[in-house]
Amino acid sequence: MTPMSHDKILILDFGSQVTQLIARRVREAHVYCEVHPCDVSSEWVRQYAADGRLKGIILSGSHASVYEVDDRAPDAVFELGVPVLGICYGMQTMAQQLGGKVEGSPHREFGYAEVRARGHTALLKDIADFHTPEGHGMLKVWMSHGDKVTEMPPGFKLMASTDSCPIAGMADEARRFYGVQFHPEVTHTVQGRAMLERFVLEVCGAKPDWIMRDHIKEAVAAIRAQVGDEEVLLGLSGGVDSSVAAALIHRAIGDQLTCVFVDHGLLRLHEGDMVMDMFAGKLHARVIRVDASDLFLRELAGVTDPEQKRKIIGRLFVDVFKAEAEKLKAARPGSKGIQWLAQGTIYPDVIESGGAKSKKAVTIKSHHNVGGLPEQLGLKLLEPLRDLFKDEVRELGVALGLPHDMVYRHPFPGPGLGVRILGEVKKEYADLLRRADAIFIEELRSTIEPNSGKSWYDLTSQAFAVFLPVKSVGVMGDGRTYDYVVALRAVQTSDFMTADWAELPYGLLKRVSSRIINEVRGINRVTYDVSSKPPATIEWE
Ligand code: XMP
Repeated sequence: MTPMSHDKILILDFGSQVTQLIARRVREAHVYCEVHPCDVSSEWVRQYAADGRLKGIILSGSHASVYEVDDRAPDAVFELGVPVLGICYGMQTMAQQLGGKVEGSPHREFGYAEVRARGHTALLKDIADFHTPEGHGMLKVWMSHGDKVTEMPPGFKLMASTDSCPIAGMADEARRFYGVQFHPEVTHTVQGRAMLERFVLEVCGAKPDWIMRDHIKEAVAAIRAQVGDEEVLLGLSGGVDSSVAAALIHRAIGDQLTCVFVDHGLLRLHEGDMVMDMFAGKLHARVIRVDASDLFLRELAGVTDPEQKRKIIGRLFVDVFKAEAEKLKAARPGSKGIQWLAQGTIYPDVIESGGAKSKKAVTIKSHHNVGGLPEQLGLKLLEPLRDLFKDEVRELGVALGLPHDMVYRHPFPGPGLGVRILGEVKKEYADLLRRADAIFIEELRSTIEPNSGKSWYDLTSQAFAVFLPVKSVGVMGDGRTYDYVVALRAVQTSDFMTADWAELPYGLLKRVSSRIINEVRGINRVTYDVSSKPPATIEWE
């Protein structure tokens, strides 16, 4: 469902960790862009440009040196007549491919640097963080490189420099080719956003018409065209992606959409009712709630190994969903029946699976995975959020009328409380944990951090309670208690790959602890998890 009417920017990924950030910055400038692997052919690039909508190309950085890998930009990149911006490795390969020189260096320059802007280029004109007494414009940037360009290709002039990296930026303004050794896509480069905005809006002249509010109309039309009068099935989890996908598809095709919400009994307090209230109650969507909690708890009885628990939950989830899908397919013989399975796949999932060949992830925990379901069910796949980043999905959700609190919710793992109850999962434990967790979240939402004016819920990326199946001694009134322990976990992270434990105010922790111990009979001790990731993970299992 590639949007058909927008100008577009092509980002070629050479395998940098931060390529996605380039795309996000471009999208934030309201310009549509796509990330593709750097090894696409020239033929592919020409084809991609053939509709006349390609306004510019950005070459990303890489984790490697130009001497370690032979990744080059397809020649067509420099032959189409569109502006090109090379970032870090992207600038080096541009230099090398166009006749300049790159030299390896044993010293890696990593981190903050101050760069002098030179040559009055269209890219950097009037963009500076400060001026030296001599009047030179200076940029505060983030660098991460070993190799550097030592000779510019013919036609290029110097655009930026530092003492250790004399050619930190270069430009051929006639051809509108620019290269920067630093990373404008990361927020540490203070004017990075302004530079990328300048590149896509002014140098490339792309129209800033990628706006979520307007995207609804386009997405709705695309869904209608794709689905026609056939019916769609969607697994609703209550998470952001499936909720926004459901709301969007429902807007497009109304009752042709049936949502199946599998309640595995490991959801948060009142979560099932809230999902039903929102989708069935307010949006009037067809939602089938399958209460499978007995089945899940039965199958989990006696199982303590985290991986095994995950696998059981994943398998049962698929079984229950498939059984429901088969029932629905059979139930309405008169209609064309369900032909589509909708999924809330978002753009980072698409990039990760298709692109960056360099990323070799090690499986630390096997994640909930419903891949392969469409084939097994004999259904076609509908993925209306495939082009969108998470922030865009959220914006779209709000524009579709979903409540802010639902759309800006912390992520919740597929196996739910199953991985937040250590060891064996029991209903009694899940009930205690749900109540403790709800108190924690309620207090995070209602406690405002004065400097930012934001709630601690919004200031943390993920926060929850974990149930520890051990008992400790306590005292309540005149009596001795011997009850369970919960741990509170709150982290701050931008990518969930690494995370810091959140420095929550003591007053907040105190309130949460005293409320849990007083209100949740069965828990007499609350601890706070002060481990960062790595080496700990965010979830305890
Ligand atoms: P960890 O615990 O690996 O978590 O640091 C990183 C992020 O992934 C989420 N997570 C899961 N999500 N199924 C999911 O859908 C899972 O099995 C799973 N395990 C962890 C976790 O909540 C955090 O956001």
